[in-house]
Amino acid sequence: MTLEQAKEKLARYGQEHVLRYYEELSEQEKQGLLDQIEATDMTMLDACKHREELAKKGVITPLAALQLDEIDAQRDTFTAEGLKAVKAGKVGAVLLAGGMGTRLGSEDPKGMYNVGITRKLYIFECLIRNLMDVVRQADTWIHLFIMTSDKNHAATISFLKEQDYFGYNAEYIHFFQQEMAAATDYEGKIYLEEKGKLSTSPNGNGGWFVSLKNAGLLDVVHDEGIEWLNIFAVDNVLQRIADPCFVGAVLKKNCAVGAKVVRKNAPDEKVGVMCLEDGRPSIVEYYELSEEMMNARDENGDPAYNFGVILNYLFRVADLEEMAAGSLPLHIVEKKIPFLDANGNLVKPEEPNGYKYENLVLDMIHKLDSCLPFEVVREREFAPIKNKTGVDSVESARALLEKNGVIL
Ligand code: UTP
Repeated sequence: MTLEQAKEKLARYGQEHVLRYYEELSEQEKQGLLDQIEATDMTMLDACKHREELAKKGVITPLAALQLDEIDAQRDTFTAEGLKAVKAGKVGAVLLAGGMGTRLGSEDPKGMYNVGITRKLYIFECLIRNLMDVVRQADTWIHLFIMTSDKNHAATISFLKEQDYFGYNAEYIHFFQQEMAAATDYEGKIYLEEKGKLSTSPNGNGGWFVSLKNAGLLDVVHDEGIEWLNIFAVDNVLQRIADPCFVGAVLKKNCAVGAKVVRKNAPDEKVGVMCLEDGRPSIVEYYELSEEMMNARDENGDPAYNFGVILNYLFRVADLEEMAAGSLPLHIVEKKIPFLDANGNLVKPEEPNGYKYENLVLDMIHKLDSCLPFEVVREREFAPIKNKTGVDSVESARALLEKNGVIL
């Protein structure tokens, strides 16, 4: 893109200020900035002016989960069915590791965090070990797709290579990068993070399938006969991946998507809750849960919105391909965004100072006809690391790992 073309595009979206330092840049930096302006989607930035409207939900009603006692009664049947699919290579795993992990506050990718005490035990290692359990059980390697972002791609790849993929078969590991989105102030004006660089952040975890497709990895999915993709978050060190019982249950129940859920530990626990929205599967975030919904009861007298999602979903590839043709709703999230001030100095704000623009995986669920919320035992499968200390932290995850017999 030439300078003239960039000026024209920026004028269209009211973003001319990003060329403020253009004349101070080297030739290479100038080109870098023009390339970034060309690649950046600015069509959605205006939407921050009517942010509240975007967040509106439909009519929420309960969605029953498949609970532990029912699962236990059919565990052997589900496991046999799931194992058959895994053995046949029909299940792939997708690690969502493109997030910034700002709450944890480490400069490295979250998966590189060492949760060990007397020895090194990295988050990535915990996840790969968990997946290896199923590899052994099924006696077959499982394709593992790893999504990174511009901010952590190179570091993630070199770390895993250096660690020899913690014993995983490298031929079954595929990396891809998610897209980035511009970050703005409250008026929708793009921040600069350097004089020649727009401030950007990963575009949310809902962009994963389109990014996988854009990276050409759908060829691997098709060539290898993968029909189901189990996506999971990087931060849950007890995450069970490609779990045969879960896979089998989703297949047997003939659902379009499966979601691992845990019984909430308090009505106001900060997890998204599975529900129906206008009759379709959906997730209502904890901050959207009204007092009335928190206290609602089902026919057995149990809380009607009692199962929280843990970011572990099993999607059918055919549905994902169909979905990729359309678009997902936009989420505009208030965040702390480092930016250059009027004097050109980098400021790292202590408080939120603008918006990031994201697609979320929960909106993918809402596009599908049926969803199976599948209960898991939280002490065995849910140890998220969001913070350094306190709730959902390195400390709480360490305690849970130890409870599960992992030597730290
Ligand atoms: P979180 O919502 O916890 O975000 O991500 P985060 O970026 O990791 O952490 P904070 O909020 O900055 O502290 C849940 C999962 O979704 C992935 C994360 O890597 C994590 O596995 N994710 C999130 C992406 O892959 N891409 C994104 O753009 C956002």
